[in-house]
Amino acid sequence: MSGLLGVGRLLLWGCACVWLPSQAGAALLVATGPGAQQETREAARSLQKRSANEAQVEVHSMAVDCTVTSRFAHTVMTSVALNKANSSQEISFDVELPKTAFITNFSMEIEGEVYVGQVKEKEKAKKQYEKAVSSGQTAGLVKASGRKMEKFSVSVNIAAESNVTFVLTYEELLQRKLGRYEILTRVKPKLPVQEFHIVANIYEPQGIAFVDVHANFLSNDLLPLVEKTVTAQKAHISFSPTMEQQRKCPGCDGTQIDGDFVINYDVERAQTLGDIQIVNGYFVHFFAPSDLPRVPKNVVFVIDRSGSMSGNKMQQTREALQAILTDLHEEDHFALVPFDDKILSWKESLYKATKENVADALVYVQNIHANGLTNINDAVMKGINMLHSDREHKRIPERSFDMIILLTDGMPNTGESNIARIQENVKSALGGKTSLFCLGFGNDVDYSFLDVMSSQNRGLARRIFEASDATLQLQGFYEEVASPLLSELDLRYPDSAVDALTTNHFSQLFNGSEIVVAGRLTDNNLDNFMVDVFGQGFENDFKVQGEAKAVDWNALYPEEDYIFGDFTERLWAYLTIQQLLDKSKIGAADEKANATAEALEMALRYSFVTPLTSMVVTKPDSRDDPLIADKLTEEQRQREEKMAIRAQAYQYRPIQSQSYLHQSTPVYFVDGDPHFIIELPDRNDSLCFNINDKPGTIFNLVTDPTTGILVNGQIIGDKKIPPDGKINTYFWRFGIVHQTLGARLDISTKDISVFQDGEWVRLLWSDTASIKGANVELLVTKDRSLTVTLKDSVKFVILLHKVWANHPYHRDYLGFYTLDSHLLSSSTHGLLGQFYRPIDYEVTDLRPGAVPEKPDATMYVKGRELTVTRGWQRDFRRDVKNGEDVPCWFIHNNGTGLIDGEATDYVVSGLFKRV
Ligand SMILES: *[C@@H]1O[C@H](CO)[C@@H](O)[C@H](O)[C@H]1NC(C)=O
Ligand SMILES: *[C@@H]1O[C@H](CO)[C@@H](O)[C@H](O)[C@H]1NC(C)=O
Ligand SMILES: *[C@@H]1O[C@H](CO)[C@@H](O)[C@H](O)[C@H]1NC(C)=O
Ligand SMILES: *[C@@H]1O[C@H](CO)[C@@H](O)[C@H](O)[C@H]1NC(C)=O
Ligand SMILES: *[C@@H]1O[C@H](CO)[C@@H](O)[C@H](O)[C@H]1NC(C)=O
Ligand SMILES: *[C@@H]1O[C@H](CO)[C@@H](O)[C@H](O)[C@H]1NC(C)=O
Ligand SMILES: *[C@@H]1O[C@H](CO)[C@@H](O)[C@H](O)[C@H]1NC(C)=O
Repeated sequence: MSGLLGVGRLLLWGCACVWLPSQAGAALLVATGPGAQQETREAARSLQKRSANEAQVEVHSMAVDCTVTSRFAHTVMTSVALNKANSSQEISFDVELPKTAFITNFSMEIEGEVYVGQVKEKEKAKKQYEKAVSSGQTAGLVKASGRKMEKFSVSVNIAAESNVTFVLTYEELLQRKLGRYEILTRVKPKLPVQEFHIVANIYEPQGIAFVDVHANFLSNDLLPLVEKTVTAQKAHISFSPTMEQQRKCPGCDGTQIDGDFVINYDVERAQTLGDIQIVNGYFVHFFAPSDLPRVPKNVVFVIDRSGSMSGNKMQQTREALQAILTDLHEEDHFALVPFDDKILSWKESLYKATKENVADALVYVQNIHANGLTNINDAVMKGINMLHSDREHKRIPERSFDMIILLTDGMPNTGESNIARIQENVKSALGGKTSLFCLGFGNDVDYSFLDVMSSQNRGLARRIFEASDATLQLQGFYEEVASPLLSELDLRYPDSAVDALTTNHFSQLFNGSEIVVAGRLTDNNLDNFMVDVFGQGFENDFKVQGEAKAVDWNALYPEEDYIFGDFTERLWAYLTIQQLLDKSKIGAADEKANATAEALEMALRYSFVTPLTSMVVTKPDSRDDPLIADKLTEEQRQREEKMAIRAQAYQYRPIQSQSYLHQSTPVYFVDGDPHFIIELPDRNDSLCFNINDKPGTIFNLVTDPTTGILVNGQIIGDKKIPPDGKINTYFWRFGIVHQTLGARLDISTKDISVFQDGEWVRLLWSDTASIKGANVELLVTKDRSLTVTLKDSVKFVILLHKVWANHPYHRDYLGFYTLDSHLLSSSTHGLLGQFYRPIDYEVTDLRPGAVPEKPDATMYVKGRELTVTRGWQRDFRRDVKNGEDVPCWFIHNNGTGLIDGEATDYVVSGLFKRV
C-alpha cells in the first residue's frame, strides 16, 4: 500500500521543481533543442500566471490509514483541499498505490455532495471511455509509476472558497518474500500540509515477530516522530509531523516528506501446521513452517547472450551469475547454457556445486559475451534434455528439486520463433515435473509469452528492469527460489465443511515465502475441522495433521471496534480472483473463458478494480464525460514504459529538422562518403548506413528486371590520405540503363553522356539545358544538378558537389536521389532499390551510446536484431553546400543486417553490368 497525495496542478513528471499546468509542462519537455526558447518563454509566462493561482489552493489534510488483518491490507487515502481563490479552479488528487493492490472505492465530496466511483465491467466502461476520448478528453486515471506502483490522478473543478475531500481505498493480500511482509506507502505532498498522517494498525493473531519502519526521507529530526507500539498480536505505527516539522528548514516552503514509507514485519510460526483463521463463514490457512531442511536443487541457468544483451545487461548478468554461483549449496547441481543463435554450454550435464566446479564455472561466466540472435526454443530444450538425461542416469540425487531459470531480453527470432509452438514444445518436454522461471530483462521482451510459459510449467515470470541495480534484482529473485523446502504440497480440508476452495496444491514451497489457502464454510459446526498437509521434503515426506479452531477476534482484540468485519471473505475473494486471472491466461479456450467470466463476476460482486473491471468516476459537472480507473497488466505497464522511452527518443531529434520530415513521399538517396538514407515519412523516421570499399568499386543501386531499369555507381577516393587518416570514398560516376527503351546514361563529375535513339549526346555540367526525348527527359541545372525522368514516371536527381579545385585531398563527387519510384516493379532490388518497398522494423531499448547525443538502440528488422545508433546524415537537395540534417537510425558495418545479403553482393564488374 502507498500513496502520494498532492493537490493543485502539480506536475509530477517533467520538471519536479515547479507547479505547472500540464500543457506548459509538455512544452518544457520538448524545449531541449536550440529552436525552443519560444516555448520556454511561454511556459515561464504561463508559470507565473499559474503560481498566482496555486497559492490559492491549500491542502488542508492528507492522511493514509492502513489496517492489516492477517496479511490483508485495507488502505484509505484521504485528502482535503480548499480553493481559497475568488474564482473556481481545478484541484487535482494524485496518489500512488502498489500495483499488487486492487482499488476498491473512490469518492469525492464537493459542497456536501458525495460522488462515488462505480466498478463496472471493463468492456462496458471502455465504451464510455472511448466516447470520452473521441470528444477530446483524456479519461484514463491510472498510469504505471515505477516498478512497484501505479498512479491514480483525478482533477475536478472547485468553486471559489470551497473545499473538496478525496477518498481512495485499495486492498491487497501482503505476500511474504524473503521472510517478511512489506507495506509500502508513497507520499509526495510537495508542500507542508496542515494535517498529515500515516497510520498503520497490524492485527496478527499468530503473533508479531518484528516490525521495522524506514523511509528515505526520515531525517534525524523526523525519525523520533515515528511511533511504533508492538504488543504480542498488534502493531501500531504512526507518523504525524506538524506543518513546521515537515518543512525543509524553518520558514521555507519545501517539505521533507517525499518518498516511500516502508513497514516490514513478520509473524511468529509456532505451529508446523500453520495458522488457520475462521471468521464470518470463511477460513484462511497460512502455511510456512519455519524449521524444515532445504531440498537440494538442480538448476540450469539458460542465459540469453544475443546481441541486444551486449554492454551493461551482459555485464550485470555476469556479475549476478557470479554471486549466485558462489551462493549455491554444495549439494546443489547446476549447469550453464548461454545462447544466442548457437546454444553453448559450460559442460554437457549438471555438475555438483563443489568449490572446484563453481570456480571453474566462474571463469566460464567471465567469458560469456553477447552476440547474435535469440533462439529460446533450442536453448530451453537443451536445458531440459540435460536435466532429463541426468535424472535417467541417476547423476542427480533422487530427492532433489529440478528447475530451469531462463533469462532473456528479447523475442525469439531464430530457430523456432513461433511463440505458441515454443510454449507447446517446452510444456510437453517438461511434462509437469520441472519448474521453469522466466526473467524478462528490459522492455523488449514479450512478457506475456514468458508469463504464460512459466505458469504452464509450475513457475513464474518476473520482470528485470534495466537499471543500475539489475544485478541486485537478479540476485534477489534467485534468493527467493534458492531454498526449496517442500514440493508437491497438498493442503486438505474436510470436504463436507468447505467449498469454494482456492488453489490447494502447490508445486513447491520456498524458504521465506508462504502458502495461503482460503475457502467458504458450508457448515458452522467446526468441531471436527481437520486439516492435513502433505509434501515431499528432504529425505522424508512431510505430513502434518491438526484440528483448526476458530479464533475469536472479539476476545483477542476486546478494545477494538469490530473493524475486521468481512476480511476473511474479502481475502478469499482477492485470492480467488488472482488465481482465476492466472488461469485465464493458460489452458484450453473454454477453461480460459470460464475463468475470465468467473473472475469478472467476483470482481464486480466485491468491487475490485482488476484487469477485467474499471471504476467509472462521474464528475459533478454533467458536461464532463466520466473518468475511468483501470488496473494495468504487466504488459500494459511495459508498453507504457516503452512509449515513454520512445518519447525520449524523439527529443534527440533536433528541433530545426522536424519540419524536414513533413513531406509525404519517401526519398531514397546516397550522398557524401557514401551514406545511404532511406526516408520513411509515414513513420517520421529514416534509416541510414554507409558502404565503404576500395576506390574504383562499382555497386548496383537499382535493378528492376521487369522494366529493365538499372542504376550502378562507382566510388572514388580522396586524392591522398587526409591528416585524420580516414580515406573517404564518394560516388563520382553513375550508369543508368533503360533496357526496354534502349537508353543509357553515363554521368560523372566531369560530364553527362546520353545514348538515345542510336546516338550518344554529351552535356556539360556548366550548361543549363534540358533534353526531352520520347522516353527520357533530362534537366541540367548549371553546376548543380541533373534530373532524369524515365518515361514520365521514374525520377532520379543527381547532385554535383564541386570541391575547390586545389583542395589538397578531396575531389568532386555526386549524390543520387530517387524521387519517384512507384512505377518500378515489386522485384526491384539493389542497394537502394530493395527499399522501394515498405520495410517493417521496430526500434526499442534506447540506451546511452559511445557519444552522448547519439544513443544506441536495438532494431528488429527482417527477423534480425541489430544494435543501431541515432545519428544524422545530410540531404543536400535544398542546400547543396551545407545540406540539411536528417535524423536517422544508423546501421553499422556497411548496413549488415538491414540490407539483403552483404555489401559485396552488390558489386558489379562494369558501369552497365548487372549483378
Ligand atoms: C478576485 O481576486 C483578485 C486578486 O486576487 C482581484 O483582483 C479581484 O478583484 C477579485 N474579484 C472579485 C470579484 O472579488
Ligand atoms: C465507497 O465510499 C463511499 C463514500 O465514502 C461509501 O458511502 C460507500 O459505502 C463505499 N462503498 C464501498 C463498496 O465500500
Ligand atoms: C469545508 O467546507 C465546509 C463548508 O464550507 C466547512 O464546513 C468545512 O469546515 C470545510 N472543511 C475544511 C476542512 O476546511
Ligand atoms: C530460511 O530462512 C531463514 C531466514 O529467513 C533462515 O534463518 C533459515 O536458515 C532458512 N532455512 C533454510 C533451510 O535455508
Ligand atoms: C465452462 O462453463 C460451462 C457453463 O458454466 C460448463 O458447462 C463447462 O463445463 C465449463 N468448462 C470448463 C472447462 O470448466
Ligand atoms: C510526424 O511529425 C509531425 C510533427 O512533428 C506530426 O505532425 C506528424 O503527425 C508526425 N507523423 C507521424 C506519422 O507520426
Ligand atoms: C565494409 O566493407 C569493406 C569491404 O568489404 C570493408 O573493407 C570494410 O571494412 C567494411 N566496413 C565495415 C564498417 O564493416
